[in-house]
Amino acid sequence: MTDTTERTARIDDLLARMTTKQKVGQLIQYFYFSLPAGAGEGIDPFISRQPQAVEAALAEGVVGSLLFVTDPAETNRLQKLAIEGNEHGIPLLFGFDVIHGLRTIFPVPIALAASWDADTIERAQTVAAREARAVGIHWAFAPMVDIARDARWGRIIEGAGEDPLLGSVVAAAQVRGFQGEELGASEHIVAGPKHFAGYGAALGGRDYDEVDLSDQEFWNTCLPPFKAAIDAGAGNIMSAYMDLNGVPASGNHWLLTEVLRDALGFEGFVVTDANAAKDLETHHFAADAADAAVRALNAGVDMEMGIFQPAFANLIEAIDDGRVDTARVDEAVRRILVVKEKLGLFEQPYVDEADARRVLADPAHRDEAQRAAERSAVLLRNEGGILPLDPDSLGSVAVIGPLATSQRDTLGPWVFDFDLGETVTIAEGIATRLAGKASVVVEQGVAEPKRTFPSMFEQFGDTSPSAPADFDADAALDRAVRAATDADVAIVVLGEQQDMIGENASRSDLSLPGDQQRLLEAVVATGTRVVLVLMNGRPLDIRWAAENVPGILDVWYPGTRGGSAVASLLFGDTAPAGKLPFTWPRTVGQVPIHHAITRSHAPQNQDKRYWNEESTPLFPFGHGLGYTSFEYAEVRVDAERVGLDGTVTVSVDVANTGDRDGVEVVQLYLHQRFGTSSRPLRQLAAFERVEIAAGQTETVAFRIGPDERRYWSAATRDWVLDATVFDVWVGGDANAQAHAEFTVG
Ligand code: BGC
Repeated sequence: MTDTTERTARIDDLLARMTTKQKVGQLIQYFYFSLPAGAGEGIDPFISRQPQAVEAALAEGVVGSLLFVTDPAETNRLQKLAIEGNEHGIPLLFGFDVIHGLRTIFPVPIALAASWDADTIERAQTVAAREARAVGIHWAFAPMVDIARDARWGRIIEGAGEDPLLGSVVAAAQVRGFQGEELGASEHIVAGPKHFAGYGAALGGRDYDEVDLSDQEFWNTCLPPFKAAIDAGAGNIMSAYMDLNGVPASGNHWLLTEVLRDALGFEGFVVTDANAAKDLETHHFAADAADAAVRALNAGVDMEMGIFQPAFANLIEAIDDGRVDTARVDEAVRRILVVKEKLGLFEQPYVDEADARRVLADPAHRDEAQRAAERSAVLLRNEGGILPLDPDSLGSVAVIGPLATSQRDTLGPWVFDFDLGETVTIAEGIATRLAGKASVVVEQGVAEPKRTFPSMFEQFGDTSPSAPADFDADAALDRAVRAATDADVAIVVLGEQQDMIGENASRSDLSLPGDQQRLLEAVVATGTRVVLVLMNGRPLDIRWAAENVPGILDVWYPGTRGGSAVASLLFGDTAPAGKLPFTWPRTVGQVPIHHAITRSHAPQNQDKRYWNEESTPLFPFGHGLGYTSFEYAEVRVDAERVGLDGTVTVSVDVANTGDRDGVEVVQLYLHQRFGTSSRPLRQLAAFERVEIAAGQTETVAFRIGPDERRYWSAATRDWVLDATVFDVWVGGDANAQAHAEFTVG
């Protein structure tokens, strides 16, 4: 890396020598599809012609960045084409969806968030960055920091759930993991938080559909994770697809300039989501592709992520006829060149392929993935202490369910460069753990559930397993029931296949898809003890299971070493300590749902807003059990009253009352009794993950100052700090009982 003065001088010099066409080229990112074997049937003809078109553009020197290349030999080859294609030797920036790992697959992002453990999350993305950088990827389109409160929206899996504070901690940890100490650190890549902004509030939970977000929700809920990611140094931001309050996010000057630059202080470069510049025309906002390019650039977009013919190619003409200012173009080019320079790409644009192979094979990465999976699982129910299972007292175990043996589903969505061969399924993990102790019988029970409409990734050959056409449903169910009857315990692995969740995977219903509910009920009816292991990225309707199945462990999509992690949790080698990053509804009719609601008319009925069913969740936000128990003593506040700028220290003694060491995520919820706006009945304001030895007590202290109390008020249309009274609760979930109060002002 060079120092700042040299950097500016080099970029000034380049800007002075580059042609308009070359400058505009820097603002264009193309997909480059290296199609896997097996892809092709029904593939979009544009996609199959894409490689030749992109290579021609590289040879002409008019490409700034590529995405979707993960083979180091290919990144080197394409990089060489780019460098030789322009007389200035400007290298390409390679971006990719490094969402939860590249070769080593970590638990999905919502799972990592469920660890409530910034260290684990940072370590996961450090590994992902190392693998990505080794193959020549410089930039992750991650983290996704969109707050999601509607489980119908499939992309809930990519974020950190419903809460702005947890979302902020998770966002910052991911940025630190991807980028390291500073942008340009070796073995690290640029982080690109997305999708700016409000994308998680899609109408009806339907992906890409419009978002109407109130100002208070925008400032108080949607923006904090972006702010945290920017404060952590994120080098890039991706603009969102949808309309935000009637203006497309990718053509919204107020959003991309006044909010992002002026209010949040972002200094890096903005890329659109894929095709989102051209979409401005689709939105009936821009007149045509040229108008779309002008309006996106003028709004604050620096780079277009283009699928086919990019809209930004029209900028050359727009510069000539004055619709775009050259200073704005130079600003955008500069932002992109600065990143290339900070990454050291002018000096070292290529990767060492042998080194890449070594990094990708690093066994330490798999160990990290297993540790992360162990820390992400959430024990939802444990009646009668059914878990952990004692491996020495079991003669036989039945592992049942179509997801138990699926390598692809174990990894979850948003992975492309995985190795199925090294993926440990739940059935394999259990069999390995019990080898020499108990017999393990594996039964599918029911056919794999299927989407009604195909996944967008199917055309690339990426699918979850399907049942054969001659699948005999009755025989499969009979075999599963017999296996359960003969076993000491039945472990039933159910949930959604990985292609049922993620982008373009919204769902109007939250039930266990396919025949899985029937299978579960049949297995429970055998009278054998049952543990339900859930694989999911959204809460599912498990009302029946929550009453009838004693043990429920949510393992999400646990990744490469998922099966080993799940076995270690089930048999007590390690204890679950994850907590829900979202409120778990009883039924789809309750969504959107979250914990930070305000009090309203007839509060005595707030739990009974529907006449047919309670409006309380099935499991509260922050819920998660372990293999020990904790008791919270009284909450202490060090001052009854503080000034407006004052800080109180809230402390509580937490006792581990069980006979096993354990981890508790101690959560503090705050409520402001009156003020400029109505404030949530409870809102997470602080948390800490603490290890407490069996029989021991730890004191946990939190400082609650102006930053924890400030909020954006729609009454004053500004940030306010009220003189008021606060309630504070501390506990293990959003129903925390230990209470105190203090006065401010
Ligand atoms: C998604 C982005 C993703 C991009 C590139 C889009 O469809 O919305 O999150 O980064 O594709 O794959």
